[in-house]
Amino acid sequence: MTANELRQKYLNFFQEKNHAAISSASLIPENDPTVLFTTAGMHPLVPYLLGEKHPTGNRLTNSQKCIRTDDIDEVGDATHHTFFEMMGNWSLGDYFKKEAIDFSWEFLTSSKWLNLDKNRLAVSVFKGDEDAPYDEEAYKIWQEIFSKNNIPEARIAKLPKKNNWWGPAGLTGPCGPDSEMFYWAGEADKVPASFNDDNDLWVEIWNDVFMQYNKLADGSFELLKKPNVDTGLGLERVLAVINGKSDNYQTELFSGLINKIEELSNKKYGIDKETDKSMRIIADHIKAAACIIGDDKGITPSNTDQGYVVRRLIRRAIRHGRQLGIEKKYWTKEVAEMAIAVYKNIYNELEKNKHSILENLDKEEEKFIRTLEKGLIEFKKISIADINGEAAFNLYQSYGFPIEITEELAQESGIKVDRKRFEEELKKHQDLSRTASAGKFKGGLADSSEETTKLHTAAHLLLAALRKVLGEQVTQKGSNITSERLRFDFAYSEKMTPEQIKETEDLVNWAIIANFPVVCEELSLEEAKNRGAMGVFDSKYGERVKVYTASKLTADGTPDINSAFSQEICGGPHVDNTGILGKFKIQKEESSSAGVRRIKAILQN
Ligand code: SER
Repeated sequence: MTANELRQKYLNFFQEKNHAAISSASLIPENDPTVLFTTAGMHPLVPYLLGEKHPTGNRLTNSQKCIRTDDIDEVGDATHHTFFEMMGNWSLGDYFKKEAIDFSWEFLTSSKWLNLDKNRLAVSVFKGDEDAPYDEEAYKIWQEIFSKNNIPEARIAKLPKKNNWWGPAGLTGPCGPDSEMFYWAGEADKVPASFNDDNDLWVEIWNDVFMQYNKLADGSFELLKKPNVDTGLGLERVLAVINGKSDNYQTELFSGLINKIEELSNKKYGIDKETDKSMRIIADHIKAAACIIGDDKGITPSNTDQGYVVRRLIRRAIRHGRQLGIEKKYWTKEVAEMAIAVYKNIYNELEKNKHSILENLDKEEEKFIRTLEKGLIEFKKISIADINGEAAFNLYQSYGFPIEITEELAQESGIKVDRKRFEEELKKHQDLSRTASAGKFKGGLADSSEETTKLHTAAHLLLAALRKVLGEQVTQKGSNITSERLRFDFAYSEKMTPEQIKETEDLVNWAIIANFPVVCEELSLEEAKNRGAMGVFDSKYGERVKVYTASKLTADGTPDINSAFSQEICGGPHVDNTGILGKFKIQKEESSSAGVRRIKAILQN
């Protein structure tokens, strides 16, 4: 089965069960300052999981692009990835545990669908703790299914929160117990009688989350009014499993990239463990970097936020390229081209932004080479006998010189760097910066919704004002809102003049004083587009969208769209009237990346 067939099968199955297909959201979350990336399918759906009405319905299905960096040290094994696709089905206050589990079982095992060997499946449920009770309901549903199918009950495990709890995606938000499904990737006649979490041959393929709670900023859990179902099936893993591969990198989602790396390094995949690991890391990291840069938000390698992650991914890939003996310069783009080829028909933005992806990879390679050269000069200044863990950390900290390369060079003189000491220094430093960023992110979205909602509406007014002042070519590239401030990125190639900044600010304040009602309407994408609403229009499924309009009303109480100040496709929520926003103030206008400007603004009461 190809990846396209698997994706389609999943969507078809759930469409047959009355779910509407919706498009993947961006990899860069809108308006959520607590995370850098969309880490799961639930992420873009958080407002709906908290009770907002979704315009397309309360049964949805999708394939969502995701980036996870917390598993980055595991990348290099057969199944962990930085970029991956998650297939999902969603019940927004509609069905719950019974239907969710029945759907999962049917899709996995029915001969009409994936037809997986039932005897190779195992599951786990939440065993309960002080926050929430043992999930007996889920256990019983599985027990009945397993008994009907003669599967040993010992293949249903009860596990703690660490294993069987999901969410929230950021610091606060919807979450709950989950039930995970595993496939035995070992030999068919050696399936263990019971499920064991420590055995890597049990590969997690699907997770049904039963979202019953909302985690609040003080760490407590409140029950959601209507519980939801959020499921996530890992496309890469399932594709491997159904094609009888024990390694995701042997599927078509990676094989083109691996072949290219074999060609560049003149080595073969599948012979030596260390070589395989490096090849996997390169394939994974370059694919992830390409998908982030290609995501329409204009992210490029830098020293902050998402840009920093991209930089690290590319540099780590280059380091592993060195280990494989790749000598050529500007080679990462060749691997990226293979990644773009895999996804170009699914995620059109990759083909559209191909030029920028390849160019940024070249630039980053160039910069890294210069970093290495500079680091090398510094390395040589230190007497070789003094190359210890601390010196290695200083080289890394001050010059970006990777520890692995310090080790390599020290090795040439027979010196072993104290890696533990290095890690200690690094940890000390990371702890410091983590505390700093925890402070920065204090608050989050869910706990101070009034302030963030106001800033969210202000962001709409700002975009509308920028388009009036700078021209219609201005489009939004991203936004990030805390309860204190708004950060807004937009496509525009020049620095704004003080006059333009003042004019923009005045226009937003004018719209606030005008006290426009902010009206939410549900429209088809076509209708939204024809009305001139701002937003992303590359939906594949023609789903319905919400449009928030800030304008005076016509006699029949609907927004007067001919004179609307702002109209935007958006999930919300927003304030009811612009008048309550207070005074809008732009604090800073600066460059964010090539062709993208960034505004920081606040509302004063
Ligand atoms: N949010 C859950 C996960 O990421 C299921 O989609 O595993």
